[in-house]
Amino acid sequence: MVDVDEMEQQHRKLIGLLNRLKDAVNNHESRKDIYRIIDEVISFTGSHFANEEQLMVKSGFPEIDLHRNHHVHLMKEAHRLKEKYDYAGEEMFVEWFNHWYYTNVIAHIQYADKAVEDHIMQGSAKG
Ligand SMILES: [Fe+2]
Ligand SMILES: [Fe+2]
Repeated sequence: MVDVDEMEQQHRKLIGLLNRLKDAVNNHESRKDIYRIIDEVISFTGSHFANEEQLMVKSGFPEIDLHRNHHVHLMKEAHRLKEKYDYAGEEMFVEWFNHWYYTNVIAHIQYADKAVEDHIMQGSAKG
């Protein structure tokens, strides 16, 4: 179950980064620091998605196109985080972030990624 462990570890790291971003905004950290965390979110999300897509190919996950589209959408949103932060201001940004971005990422992990994990586990149970 190395692949599933790896996915879950990456999800924990991603959620940790998102929480760090929220804290940084709530604590009025500098724009430069906020931007730096957003860059980390973008880069880690990108490498995690690429990694997960490889695991989907490797395990023959049937709904890979749908899942990949969801990644593309979340990635687009990640690339808009700076713009949102600049446009909305701290308070509105956190509000939007909690109700939209964070919620969508968590939902993706809980449902879409869970389906991939279940698929990988079924495959390895069959041997
Ligand atoms: Fe995913
Ligand atoms: Fe994931």
